[in-house]
Amino acid sequence: MTTVDLPLLPLGRGQDPSSERGVECPGDLPAASDPDLVARARAAKDALGDRVFVLGHHYQRDEVIQFADVTGDSFKLAREAAARPDAEYVVFCGVHFMAESADILTAPHQQVVLPDLAAGCSMADMARLAQVERAWEALADAGLADSVVPVTYMNSSADIKAFCGRHGGVVCTSSNAEVALEWAFGQKPDAKVLFLPDQHLGRNTAVLQMGMSLEDCVVWNPLLPGGGLPAEQLRDARMILWKGHCSVHGRFAPEVVDELRATMPGVRVLVHPECRHEVVTRADEVGSTEYIIKAVEAAPPGTRWAIGTELNLVRRLAEDHPEQEIAFLDKTVCYCSTMNRIDLPHLVWALESLVTGTVVNRIEVDPDTEREALVALQRMLDLPGRSHRD
Ligand code: 13P
Ligand code: SF4
Repeated sequence: MTTVDLPLLPLGRGQDPSSERGVECPGDLPAASDPDLVARARAAKDALGDRVFVLGHHYQRDEVIQFADVTGDSFKLAREAAARPDAEYVVFCGVHFMAESADILTAPHQQVVLPDLAAGCSMADMARLAQVERAWEALADAGLADSVVPVTYMNSSADIKAFCGRHGGVVCTSSNAEVALEWAFGQKPDAKVLFLPDQHLGRNTAVLQMGMSLEDCVVWNPLLPGGGLPAEQLRDARMILWKGHCSVHGRFAPEVVDELRATMPGVRVLVHPECRHEVVTRADEVGSTEYIIKAVEAAPPGTRWAIGTELNLVRRLAEDHPEQEIAFLDKTVCYCSTMNRIDLPHLVWALESLVTGTVVNRIEVDPDTEREALVALQRMLDLPGRSHRD
């Protein structure tokens, strides 16, 4: 056997703590059929009071989001975590990389809990540190060491963020990718960006927001020597896009946009920038989860929408806005399976354990990784203004 870079573990099984796929939950969980789960979660949260702060990403289930003290996209949640120094415990209802970022941004006395360790992110798993280091060496061998600035999407593991901190790079989210790229291109004369790990966010931002051409973007395949790119293509590229994608957003298809336009006259197509370029170019509006919510909230009654992002969020928007006609952009795209790992039994187990003084599923980034990742995260938090897509 050769490499352990990409262990193919069935979700939640086996032992691979360094993988975003996580490990099986070790806890003695309450049964999902327990009719008292809501009351138990409420009682545990009340007992903890201000000692606990619960963050909920927009893709979380209803049964969980009702207990969030604040909901948001990954950028907002990162800032909210950093702004709560008094909370002893931060319970992160989201996925592993988000809980890692919260741990990095909170004070050492604060403990971050992810109710199910198997709540990883398949996109984050597509860029492993060993692969990125190999790519960096190959770029240096190609004579590009002095011109490449690494930019990583928030949806990446802490060690990838640390890599960016070490190499003069920055973190971005779907709501500030344009500002982060502008910053990166301003760092060096003739700068190129190595964009990790979501090729779609990188391409969509470069082409649709920054006016680059598709030819300015090349895709680095970590499974091929030299990324599978001829030297002259690398030399001419401005954006070197890592070959990663979101397994949920990557499934929205351009044909469905065309079909919906035929069957829903006047529909406004609103998608997340993790969708493929062919989908995004057919959309009327593109933006982060926070942007999508604000766009719907601001629209007049009777507006027709087809929304391409995670189903929990779209379903909630449709329920909260009966005065508008809100459709999901696909018949077959499912919930994000890892976001959905956080359910009420896991939340109750995590909160009740805290009440008894036991911290379960603590997410703790090692100090060296934390220090370097914080450099890249802080550069993001210090970026001027926000994109219009937040
Ligand atoms: P945002 O929360 O930044 O919009 O990202 C969406 C996502 O896929 C999170 O996993
Ligand atoms: Fe990862 Fe996509 Fe799920 Fe977000 S929606 S956690 S990017 S797999």
